[in-house]
Amino acid sequence: NPTLREVADRTGRFVGTAVNDGRLSDGTYANIAKGEFSSVTAENAMKWGSVEPNRGQFNWAAADRLVSFAQANRQKVYGHTLVWHSQMPNWLANGSFSNAELRTIMTGHVTTQVARYKGKVQRWDVVNEAFNENGTLRASKFYNQLGQSYIADAFRVARAADPSAKLFINDYNTEGTNAKSDGLYNLVKSLKSQGVPIDGVGFQSHLIVGQVPSTMKANLQRFADLGVEVVISELDIRMATPADAAKLQQQANDYKAVARTCLAIARCTGITVWGFGDRDSWVPGTFPGQGAANLYDTNYQPKPAYNAFRDGLAGS
Ligand code: G3I
Repeated sequence: NPTLREVADRTGRFVGTAVNDGRLSDGTYANIAKGEFSSVTAENAMKWGSVEPNRGQFNWAAADRLVSFAQANRQKVYGHTLVWHSQMPNWLANGSFSNAELRTIMTGHVTTQVARYKGKVQRWDVVNEAFNENGTLRASKFYNQLGQSYIADAFRVARAADPSAKLFINDYNTEGTNAKSDGLYNLVKSLKSQGVPIDGVGFQSHLIVGQVPSTMKANLQRFADLGVEVVISELDIRMATPADAAKLQQQANDYKAVARTCLAIARCTGITVWGFGDRDSWVPGTFPGQGAANLYDTNYQPKPAYNAFRDGLAGS
């Protein structure tokens, strides 16, 4: 049987996974990560809190490890994430800075990190989760002090640091047409019209079994029609645990539907799953009583979703 990456290659798309640095030393984990996927995203290792735990003191070890892993296995690297209200280092989250200082800190961070991986990271989530559910901009530290212009500023300095990297804005609960995706759509449209260098939109797609939004394809298509790439950036499909045959079958159908949605859109360039094994998932820790959201079970055996997802990526 072909691997996910072989199948995705045939339509010129990438199929990626989030990688947990702490799990790469497990041979089974590493073999699936390299064998099945053509792209990797650091689950945590490239976040600001990971790379600059103390101001001016950098820890690139885990991020570098992932980039080396990708190079050794002919994989793309999807950089996640530069400007985000969460997982900021404590010195930044709890510190007080003048607006001018905060702006310099933010643009300096983007420049440093993008420049470090110039030519090695093909896509960056420049701004992550900027929106509230009602479509207004989230009151993050950056928004509160700098206003909406923090977004355009982050994209401009990222472009200057690596002109070849594709620059994305990424969010969740924006897969279907709703108030939040309307807000995101209007922002992307306005950034494009102002000449801000934005290349793509990531739809995280942390979905629930049986609830793939019916408007997902139309919604992604309207973004693609703005002339940007669209990617499914953090796919998982959770259920109430324990799993049973019916839920696993519905999940398989849902993974396939998401893959087919991407294939139906010329500008949808790839799909990243947010981890591949149920034992590694963030879901049970955040949503107690839910889980089993991934393609492989807790023993890294493929679930019905694996075959269905591969069929979907193959266009069948
Ligand atoms: O590294 C520390 C470790 O030293 C400590 O012992 C341990 C104790 O709890 O915590 C460890 O940090 C955890 C980190 O994951 C690494 O495992 C954090 O507590 C935990 O909050 C963090 O969770 C991550 C979460 O983002 C944080 O917001 C998840 O792994 C990661 O899957 C999740 O990913 C996000 C995307 O970045 C953005 N979109 C949503 C997605 C799911 O929440």
